[in-house]
This record gives sequence, C-alpha cells and structure tokens, in this order.
Amino acid sequence: MPTGPAKLPPPYRIKVVEPIPFLSAEERRLALTEAGYNPFNLRADQVTIDLLSDSGTGATSAAQEAAAALGDESYAGARSWFRFRDEVRDLTGYPHILPVHQGRAGERILFGSLLKPGQICISNTHFDTTHANVELAGAEPRDLPCPEAADLDSDEPFKGNIDLDALERVLTGPEGHRVGLVLVTITNNGLGAQPVSMANLEAVRELCRRHAVPFFLDAARFAENAWLVREREPAYSDWTPRQIATRAFQLADGCVVSLKKDGLTAIGGLIGLRDDDLYAVCEANLIATEGFSTYGGLAGHDLERLAQGLQEVVDPAYLRSRAASTARLTQMINDAGVDTVQPPGIHALYLNAGRLLPHLAPHEFPGHSLGCQLYLDGGIRCAELGSLYLGGMDDEHQLVTPAPFELVRLAIPRRVYTDTHFEYVASVLADIAKAPERVRGYRIVSSPRLLRHFKVRLEPLAPGVVA
Ligand SMILES: Cc1ncc(COP(=O)(O)O)c(C=O)c1O
Repeated sequence: MPTGPAKLPPPYRIKVVEPIPFLSAEERRLALTEAGYNPFNLRADQVTIDLLSDSGTGATSAAQEAAAALGDESYAGARSWFRFRDEVRDLTGYPHILPVHQGRAGERILFGSLLKPGQICISNTHFDTTHANVELAGAEPRDLPCPEAADLDSDEPFKGNIDLDALERVLTGPEGHRVGLVLVTITNNGLGAQPVSMANLEAVRELCRRHAVPFFLDAARFAENAWLVREREPAYSDWTPRQIATRAFQLADGCVVSLKKDGLTAIGGLIGLRDDDLYAVCEANLIATEGFSTYGGLAGHDLERLAQGLQEVVDPAYLRSRAASTARLTQMINDAGVDTVQPPGIHALYLNAGRLLPHLAPHEFPGHSLGCQLYLDGGIRCAELGSLYLGGMDDEHQLVTPAPFELVRLAIPRRVYTDTHFEYVASVLADIAKAPERVRGYRIVSSPRLLRHFKVRLEPLAPGVVA
C-alpha cells in the first residue's frame, strides 16, 4: 500500500461502461406520476443515479468475467460447483454448503426446515424478506436491537448489535421454550447499516449454547461487517477482513447469505450448515424447489463469478476504499445540512427525513416525500425506511402506528459510481435542504397487505408537485 496522499483512489480502473439517462424535469414528473409515486415502479432507464439497492447492482471484475467463460453447465457435479463450494467452505468453515439463487430462497428453505409453527425467531433486526419468510414458516419474528441503535446521532461503534440482556430475558423467561432460532444480521441493514461486534456475536453464541438454541448469521454483508470490526473493535485491528469473517462464521451454527451483495455478483446465495440432519432436510427441500444440490438455481457461470467475487470482496484495499467513499458522501450530505444516521456504515447511508422536513407529519410520509423529491429534482432513486415501509396501517391505509424514525436509504452499488456521481447527489440534496418546506406530503391510494412498500401507489397531498 503506497503512503503519501491521504485519499487513495479505488484499487481498480473502469474497463466497461454503460450510459446513464438524463431526463428533463417534466419527463421525470411524468415518469413518477405514472409510477404511482413509487420509485419501485420506475423503469431503470428513467433513473440517472440508482441508489435503490446495493443488491445485485455491483460491477463485476475482468477476473470474474474470465472465470464465467469457464462456467461448467453440467446438470450435476459441475466443475464450477466444486470451485464455489471449496471457496465457501474455506471462508466459512461449514462442512455443508447449499447454493440458492438468492438470499430469500435460502431463508425459505432454512426456516421451512428448522422453524416450527408457534416458535419465535429472534434477531437484531429481521430484513423484510427474512421477516416474511419467518412468518411464512408459521413462526414469529422478534427484533431485539441494542438500545444504542435508538440514538441516530451518536457515534457508538456497534449499533447493529443484538440486545444481549433482552435476549437472555426471553431465553430464560416463560417464552424461552418457544425460541427456535437466533438470527443475527451482519451488517444490520434494517437499522442504519450498522455493524455487529465480534464480542456481541461471542456472547450470543454462549447464550445460545447454554439454552440449546440454534444460532445463525444472516451474512449478506459479512465482508463489510468484518471491515468495520477491524476499524472499530481494537482486539481485531491487526486481523485481515477474511480472518474476521471466518471467525464470525465459526461462532455460529450456520448461515444464510444473499451473495448479491458481498458475493459481488448479480445473483446468488447460499446456506451454510454444520448439522448433518438439518442439512439432509434442507437439501431435499432445495432439490424440490430450487434445483439439484450442485447448482441450486444458479448457472455454472454464476458459480464461477461468485467463487472469484468472494476472494475479491475481502481485499482490504477494496473494503477500505468502499468504506471511505461512503464516508465521504455522508460528509458531503451532512455539510449540505442533511443529517444521516451516524456513524456511517458502508453499503448505504440513511437520511434523517423526519428532521429535515418537520412540516410533514408521519402520516404524510416525510421519508417517502424526500425520496420522491430526489427523483423529481435529480433523477435519483432511493428507498424510504419510515412510516410508509414500517408503520402500522388500518384497512383504509391510514397510518395507525408511525415508525420510530422517518429515514431514506441511499444504497451504494459496489464499484459502480465515482465521487463525481456522489458530488451530484450531494448537490441535489443541498438544494432541497435550502428550501425543505417546498417538499409535499403524500397519501396512499392503494396498497397490498404483505411487503407493502414494493407495490404501494400514492399521490401528492396538494395538487401537482413543485419540482
Ligand atoms: C440483510 C439481508 N438479508 C436478506 C436479504 C435477501 O436477499 P435477496 O435479495 O438476495 O433475496 C437482503 C437483501 O437485501 C438483506 O439485505
């Protein structure tokens, strides 16, 4: 690593590019109206900077594409499967690996095989599909985030942790016998992309061992969590990210992983297991619903890209550069007068829309309003994480229980955007912050019951939108 300039460039250069569209303000207004004011309904070619998700949206490397050309598409026992399996075994230490096409397929298979109706699954925070798949297995998802997570502004290093006291209270209390699984999400996507410390994982392991409850990781961002552990947990400051990740996997009984994030690919996932009997049940379930156990819904070329991506993602130079890039964008946004959840994580930053738009009540969805304004003003797409997504609604779609915070998530695709793109994002936000009162509230027109935010349609509260 060269020394000298404080700000090092990313450890790669760009080889293949794709144009991004620039629509006029009127075209954006029409596009959002047709989308029912839900950014999930926009066409991707109507979006200038797409910060909706970091899932499957990263750029692959030349080495990954070269490996993909060697993909073995044999139905069973493909060479690509063994390359993938050996890479994952080496990283995680789990003897049993099952490939799946994406994280939620793994969740469905794991929870369907492990959880019994009436049981409780405890997490630091369930991701939305994880929550839905626990319910579909007939069990109850219960979130026990650490109390530090409630202060969005504090610099506590591990606000992604599970609340150990609360976990112990449930395990030793009258409901203890109902706990079927403890699932810790690293990093905590539902709560500000905050990391989980190794000390927290060790304590969870000990509690689960004592109470004979399986402990699993939802490890979609295992490498980014490892980097933040290295940066923030002194005992690990001279470990490599790969060593830290391996140690985290070792602490748990198994994992479910969406590889669309830290696999550095567009598609993929896995289940890692120690238990032979659980493996046999999951494998049967996988073969019936995803594909044979040596491909699990993935093509040979996907498995090749993944095996290579799993090596690249733990490169300290890559992780350092990605973390620094998110931190710089956060700083630019904070300097523009918009508060974000602190301290910055890596895969996303979370705007405090409730604070920026105090003229909008929770039932007018300030987070959603800010997200829409970012699209109207700059063609920027992002996702609300506030009362529209998390609030309790009655049958007429009226907000009954507001979410604790009104946030907007700007997710950062891996290896895709440069600092210049981020300067643009910050400048659009800066303009909104100069006159926030012009941002209108919204009301729901129609909404599905499950996973509301994907398909909800809305309209602005006042006629027309001031763009
Ligand atoms: C923490 C977490 N778990 C699970 C998933 C589901 O993964 P997938 O989108 O691959 O189904 C996601 C997706 O964003 C996630 O962030």
